[in-house]
Amino acid sequence: MALRNLRFDGDEVLGKVCRQVDVIDDRILTLLKDMADTMYAEKGVGLAAPQVGVLKRLVVIDVGDGLLELINPKIVKTEGEVVDTEGCLSVPELVGDVSRPKKVWVEALNTKGEKIYLEGEDLLARAFCHEIDHLDGILFTSRAIKLINKKDLDD
Ligand code: CO
Repeated sequence: MALRNLRFDGDEVLGKVCRQVDVIDDRILTLLKDMADTMYAEKGVGLAAPQVGVLKRLVVIDVGDGLLELINPKIVKTEGEVVDTEGCLSVPELVGDVSRPKKVWVEALNTKGEKIYLEGEDLLARAFCHEIDHLDGILFTSRAIKLINKKDLDD
């Protein structure tokens, strides 16, 4: 198990557009594994490569139904809308209400380089949108309708 250092809001790497992955080699597979280890260690439900300082289109997600490792993920269709509270390992002080599609369809490559199609609803749809946003340099704070400091939640 290898953990990577998280990057936090204010780090310029989080505002950059990530590059497509053309070759799935051992370095990419190790990075995905480290990203998953880091996500689980930090008790997150998703992590994108720029959050560990790598500008590549890689995402890991686990909303409780097993690990998804996505290479070059792309949203191909959405349906509906839900406003719910969202957080991010790179923005530890804040949570916010964000409008996201209720259902999302994603196209990506798996670790074997095969094209896969995934469908997510509610939390999984939110995770797809949030993590793919990271690959385009977008943080949930810029989409939030309302931001709340976590300290104020304990009152
Ligand atoms: Co995030």
